[in-house]
Amino acid sequence: MRIDIITVLPELIQSPLNHSILKRAQDKGFAEIHLHNLRDYSTDKHHRVDDYPFGGSAGMVMQIEPIDRAISALKAQRHYDEIIYTSPDGEKFDQKIANSLSMTQNIIILCGHYKGIDFRVREHFITREISIGDYVLTGGELAAAVICDAVVRVIPGVISDEQSALSDSFQDNLLAPPVYTRPADYNGWKVPEVLLSGHQRKIEEWQLQQSLERTQKLRPDLLK
Ligand code: ADE
Repeated sequence: MRIDIITVLPELIQSPLNHSILKRAQDKGFAEIHLHNLRDYSTDKHHRVDDYPFGGSAGMVMQIEPIDRAISALKAQRHYDEIIYTSPDGEKFDQKIANSLSMTQNIIILCGHYKGIDFRVREHFITREISIGDYVLTGGELAAAVICDAVVRVIPGVISDEQSALSDSFQDNLLAPPVYTRPADYNGWKVPEVLLSGHQRKIEEWQLQQSLERTQKLRPDLLK
């Protein structure tokens, strides 16, 4: 899949995309992530992409023209399944949305900034608005990085042991069970006996039981 990110701060997203699983996914050809600096699409001699709001409220507003030019240049090259705008107003991002986006071919993520973007962008170009939670970030870049991370890791084949993405918390609306590694006894704090038993069926039963108990205790809303 291909993800094009349009932003005024490409440096802010570069690092999280170029490490660990996201880097490996790109190196192996499972994902292509391209960053586009919105200022490159400005016709202003100072490369400005924002202006004062009509009606005079506080803060600057991102202009429609550079955004139109950036999105149109991309759309001239390929079809996009979604053009996403990161905004606290959007639908709340979750595992289900990550899974469904991971099955698309091409998406654009437009990162919001300042006091917002000219509303006509949202009306005429954006197909989906996504929020990563009920709090306000200084810009949409960190939200875009979160979305990319969650989407790319569930592309089939990205995590070598596919089971490992499928058994994540939230994949079946259950939190993941506790995991342990050596030593089996640390200062008298012991790993649950069943995990050392080698009895696969019993281990799976225990893991499911733990998942249910932890979900009931920590996130009962997921069981509804
Ligand atoms: N931009 C600012 N806050 C945001 C949020 N919570 N989610 C997505 N984009 C944002």
